[in-house]
Amino acid sequence: MPFLIVSDIHANLEAHQAVLADAHGKYDRIVCLGDLVGYGADPNAIVDWARENAAVIIRGNHDRVSAGPDGLESFNPAAQSSTIWTRNALLPESREYLQRLPRGPLPYEGVDLVHGSPVDEDEYVVTSSDAAPLLAHLEAPLTFFGHTHRQGGFRLARRSVTFLATARRVEVEPKYFYLVNPGSVGQPRDGDPRAAYALYSPEERAVEFRRVAYDVGRAAAKIRAAGLPDFLAARLHEGL
Ligand SMILES: [Fe+2]
Repeated sequence: MPFLIVSDIHANLEAHQAVLADAHGKYDRIVCLGDLVGYGADPNAIVDWARENAAVIIRGNHDRVSAGPDGLESFNPAAQSSTIWTRNALLPESREYLQRLPRGPLPYEGVDLVHGSPVDEDEYVVTSSDAAPLLAHLEAPLTFFGHTHRQGGFRLARRSVTFLATARRVEVEPKYFYLVNPGSVGQPRDGDPRAAYALYSPEERAVEFRRVAYDVGRAAAKIRAAGLPDFLAARLHEGL
């Protein structure tokens, strides 16, 4: 039975619920790559869900900074104000849960889980040039990552890096290493505003990239009503 792979939910309850409805009956466990909170208006609801349902989860940079004492210097102004809002909104039990989340890389059932990259949870792996040097640091044949909010990934060999097209299934071939990003549930930045996720079948050694439309207007309205930066609402409509 496949794993449901989710990342970067970012407190977007509407996108999250659409993903669960779309994936219903297609998986038997949930794997989460971090960034439960930040940007969106429903951090406690998403943390509650993760606590009760995730089979395995690692922290993201927003989880770390929202729940801990880290400074906000590395964040842009919208991320800074959303982090301050999230720190105030988090219930004590939500904060404690986020503080206890393990940092990647975390091995799980033959795959590795990281938020940014195998060497740095804050690193953005966007281009082939970003991915190529990581080959030396990959331990499992298949590593799932998030953080960029872009669905897709890379197939790596010693002398080549190939982009993975999201339009089709990716079959994991033994002679390669794979870095696979399920995309962002709650704030896609790859030009497609639909919520993104992936299904991974260990038996078939195959990843299926999926997208599902959700009520962007409602999620955006909640962001504005919460007093979060308007930019964070507007970008949901663009998927950028
Ligand atoms: Fe994120």
